[in-house]
Amino acid sequence: IDVNNNCSEFKAAEIITKGLKSLEYRGYDSVGIALIDKNTRKIIVKKGKGKLDDVSKEYSFLLTPGCIGIGHTRWATHGAPTNINAHPHTDCKGDIALVHNGIIKNFLSLKKMLLNSGHTFKSDTDTEVVAHLIEELASTSSNFYEGFKKSISMLEGSFALAVVTTYEPEKIFFAKKESPLIIGLSKSSNFLASDIPAMLEYTNEFVPLNDGDIGWLSPREVFIENLKAGIVEIRKRKILVDWKPEMAKKGGYPHYMIKEIYEQPLALKSTFEGLISDETIIEAADLISKKDKIFIAAAGTSYHAGLVTKYFIEKITGRAVYTFISSEYKNIEYLVDNDTAIIVISQSGETIDTIKAMRSSKNRGGVIFAITNVIGSTIGREANYVVPMRAGPEIGVAATKTFLTQVLVGSMLAVNLGKSIGKINETEYNQMINTLSYSPNIVGSSISMTEGIMKKLPERFSSKNSIYFLGRGLGVPLAYEAALKMKEITYIHAEAYPAGESKHGPIALIEKDFPVFFVVTKDTYEEIASNIAEMNARDAYTIALASEEKLENLQPRLTITVPKVDLLLEPYSLIPPIQLLSYYTAVVRGLDPDKPRNLAKTVTVE
Ligand code: G6P
Repeated sequence: IDVNNNCSEFKAAEIITKGLKSLEYRGYDSVGIALIDKNTRKIIVKKGKGKLDDVSKEYSFLLTPGCIGIGHTRWATHGAPTNINAHPHTDCKGDIALVHNGIIKNFLSLKKMLLNSGHTFKSDTDTEVVAHLIEELASTSSNFYEGFKKSISMLEGSFALAVVTTYEPEKIFFAKKESPLIIGLSKSSNFLASDIPAMLEYTNEFVPLNDGDIGWLSPREVFIENLKAGIVEIRKRKILVDWKPEMAKKGGYPHYMIKEIYEQPLALKSTFEGLISDETIIEAADLISKKDKIFIAAAGTSYHAGLVTKYFIEKITGRAVYTFISSEYKNIEYLVDNDTAIIVISQSGETIDTIKAMRSSKNRGGVIFAITNVIGSTIGREANYVVPMRAGPEIGVAATKTFLTQVLVGSMLAVNLGKSIGKINETEYNQMINTLSYSPNIVGSSISMTEGIMKKLPERFSSKNSIYFLGRGLGVPLAYEAALKMKEITYIHAEAYPAGESKHGPIALIEKDFPVFFVVTKDTYEEIASNIAEMNARDAYTIALASEEKLENLQPRLTITVPKVDLLLEPYSLIPPIQLLSYYTAVVRGLDPDKPRNLAKTVTVE
């Protein structure tokens, strides 16, 4: 922040602490800050193990003077979460402090070299090695930046780095490879963060950094060069983001997760309106329809949205679709050629496994169609076609509104493909699009129909060790998503299977009152009825999530009734109670659903 303008003594500490709060979903096992003291020009480092609120109180983050600084909230990779391993890390003399996301793969060989030249290390992290490397090379270079640049060229692996130094106390130096890093621009201050919500309160003008970008920022200037392509013209890279700061706040709700569950009708409405406001999805569908193979790559919840997308594309077009978990994609990437369309689905657009799947497909001539919530993200920038989800920022680690908006985009793509291929006529097409326009209403009705019971149900089984979710057809990916949500935030062991498969193994675990949820979609009533009977016969506590239609055929111990809808709309009627169930179970178990242990919202390491 410009000293002459608005930098009151503790302003930078306040901005950094607030920024870390909004990024806590990226990691939260330890946290720290480093500021350049305006008067002494020395670096002050405060850090410790634990969540931001506790650590910042213990070390009085907000009373750290300075106008330039950096901060970090950590999700441990190398070195356990401890006070010493928390970032920022410093060099021997304390003249350089840095924060890092990613993994330095060659840190052991660099460390050995630096130990030989007399450096001593305090932590077990790969990151500290970078601070010492810069110290070593800056001391023998013509200026700090040259030394920084030389150091970066020696690093292997992934990194988003931000560095402050007493050598040039007016600047923050940065470098980016694979891990996301974005610059925020404003009049008398400039910002740098790994995600947009940290800067939304101060600006909506951003410059996403590309791999190989390196440079520095001061309160009034930004310099970026790319190690391969040379100096970057900032004007050309600038993007405007229409998210509002209050969208990334809790707004009176106890947790982000419940706020985001309630926001689903609005998120779906914005996504739907966005999709019909231009021709992107129509053009993309035309191109995909001409390709021989259709693949989908995604991770976590996005993978489940991929399975739903596959279901609808196959159902509507009769064409086979292959859905892959991104981290396994390298085993099949040799199948991609220039007659392949690849749909990549990623809420953040920054999941490294999905980025790698996208890049390898592109190199093999595949055409990339991306579904993401962040247009300026790596996936948003590198794909051939991007269809935004317009869900607004999602802060809760467990994906909710981004899942259903991904499903909506996937379904709209399926319908458009159906028309491009000639499997549905104009009237059928219009009917389907019209049906999907009701997705916001269906989510709303489903929440109001089921919330009461979903608040009470956790009392019954929050002490259980295991839960099954079973479904058939479209119900299978929805059951997978249900089990993932349950595992992620309640830590109850939850598994999902195609219901027909349950008798080939899973049923061995059933004993009295073992909870078994059935996610019952339209065309699966009869077969599911037998699976419920099999579980009842073994004294399981069977619960069916189903619409009123043909309910009498099912004989579960408990029925949770959801709105009766067309097949295309079933995800919007069946998923909200599942989300509410996990949320209220986590609350009953005294857990924070927004920050489940060991998980991070965006996983930028392999
Ligand atoms: C992490 C998150 C999940 C998410 C997955 C994929 O594991 O905890 O909630 O589904 O990453 O993220 P993406 O941003 O690619 O959708």
